[in-house]
Amino acid sequence: MTARIINGTELARSLRTQAAERAAALLKEHGVRPGLAVLLVGADPASQVYVRNKVKACEEAGFHSVLEQLPADLTEEQLLARVQALNADDSIHGILVQLPLPKHLSSHTVIEAIAPEKDVDGFHVSNAGMLMTGQPLFIPCTPYGVMKMLESAEVPLRGAEAVVVGASNIVGKPMAMLLLQAGATVTLCNSKTRELAAYTRRADVLVVATGKPGMVTGDMVKPGAVVIDVGINRGADGKLCGDVDFAGAKEVAGAITPVPGGVGPMTIAMLLINTLEAAERKLG
Ligand code: GUN
Repeated sequence: MTARIINGTELARSLRTQAAERAAALLKEHGVRPGLAVLLVGADPASQVYVRNKVKACEEAGFHSVLEQLPADLTEEQLLARVQALNADDSIHGILVQLPLPKHLSSHTVIEAIAPEKDVDGFHVSNAGMLMTGQPLFIPCTPYGVMKMLESAEVPLRGAEAVVVGASNIVGKPMAMLLLQAGATVTLCNSKTRELAAYTRRADVLVVATGKPGMVTGDMVKPGAVVIDVGINRGADGKLCGDVDFAGAKEVAGAITPVPGGVGPMTIAMLLINTLEAAERKLG
């Protein structure tokens, strides 16, 4: 059996079109253009590609967007001052500080400086708490995109066994919370989990977000499972690959997301949706 491919590019395109239509209506009816500010500190090549794609997506959807490329030796005070200026800027509804930051900057301190109502990444402790208690203001873009993919692929979650591999604040922890709230029984594995395969083989829904290429192999997948690969890695051959061995896993899984063309495009689509909703919410 070969797995059904869950196509993130197509779904993301339709969500981006919807975001563009809602943005046009907001502009027509209220004279408001959703605005996103993206801050990139330093010149990490992968981060540069990600932020450019985010800004480009905003432009295509008719949003206002600002990309601030800041030097790697910027002080924390200088970065906090930029965040505070954007908090006070009425043309900006969403602020995104691209992670990781250079080591001398505390991502925690910087994220906490973003006004929670502009924290379109959903990383502020206030937004993490709102998500945990089931009243999210902003859902972090990557896990939000995964939930949309599961919904569009009509994957049943109530009572399902879901296993999330990788427990980051950006993906794994909010992902586990969303699956739990959808009625799944959730196991959250981390880099210290013993006998990882014993967990992954139980999963009806397996979400992998470890940043380790090919870490989950076909023999670790339950036959018929839905496999969501959040990883974006550059392989030795220079090609993009995920955290799952796609060729092996697709022979066992019932459905699987590819890399590229899976979760990646969804992250950007959900950023647009979060920014749009921040702008809509501000109208009251
Ligand atoms: N780095 C990797 N993923 C993300 C993300 O979703 N948001 C931000 N701000 N940085 C990231």
